[in-house]
Amino acid sequence: MNCPAPTGPGDRYAFDNSSTHAADQLACLEQLLDPVTTGVLEQLTLSPYARCLDVGAGGGSVSRWLAGHLGPGARVLATDVDTSRLAAGDGVEMRRHDIRHGPPPGGPWDLIHTRLVLLHLPGRRRLLDQLVASLAPGGWLVVGEFSRRPLTVFTAADDDDAAVFIRVIDTLIDVLTAHGADLDWAHAVHPGMVDAGLINVHTTEHAESCHGGSVGAYLHHVNSLQKHDDLRAAGITEAELARFRRVVADPAFAARSWQFVCTRGQRPAQLPT
Ligand SMILES: C[S@@+](CC[C@H](N)C(=O)[O-])C[C@H]1O[C@@H](n2cnc3c(N)ncnc32)[C@H](O)[C@@H]1O
Repeated sequence: MNCPAPTGPGDRYAFDNSSTHAADQLACLEQLLDPVTTGVLEQLTLSPYARCLDVGAGGGSVSRWLAGHLGPGARVLATDVDTSRLAAGDGVEMRRHDIRHGPPPGGPWDLIHTRLVLLHLPGRRRLLDQLVASLAPGGWLVVGEFSRRPLTVFTAADDDDAAVFIRVIDTLIDVLTAHGADLDWAHAVHPGMVDAGLINVHTTEHAESCHGGSVGAYLHHVNSLQKHDDLRAAGITEAELARFRRVVADPAFAARSWQFVCTRGQRPAQLPT
């Protein structure tokens, strides 16, 4: 059954694909995470005729990779509530769709992939169950999310640089949480898949050092631009924002990256009732 999308404060995706910074944000995510995601997808046994759904596809890089990896017999549908950044590719269908209304018509799916989407959406556990229910027997669900694990500073030019980095990141997490995001959800996906009756559930976690001037550091810069007004409203000063952006460009700076948690599970021939 399709449920109505919730409405009200805190129910909206915290970022905005129509922002001038959205293309940079999505490009950073693709460069950072696609090697991890495609590594997980490569381990799955998928037929050349697999029906694949990419929920909240953003720029569409995973959808394009799937289409190329599986070949012309596969069907790959890339959906997003805002398709303005979704680049078409051979073998990829695109559709504007809000996952809060339930999965798009056209299933069942042999693979459903979603990355950095459910963590932003209240009702994520109900959405996970709906995605599981739209898997074909033997189909795979792959969910990638960032977790709350602290972005510990490893090196910085001085203690104040480290402190401003942590303060802005902590405030960004508060801002995202106020929009309905849950940074603890990443670790609830694995038990959620097991509870939903999936088998072969497996989780990988990835984090590395993120150095000033790198793609990961530039993602911090871009996020601070995208959420500038919210960060200011939450008490971060213009001087702190300017310093934060200098810090993440400084080669002397290094911190733990966002921790990316990727969980996959498979629908058995019969789901428990
Ligand atoms: C952080 S981006 C991640 C994009 C892409 N999955 C990736 O990892 O590169 C989150 C994406 O989810 C989309 N999104 C947010 N709320 C959504 C919803 N209710 N239904 C479908 N997509 C949504 C956004 O428009 C955005 O493209």
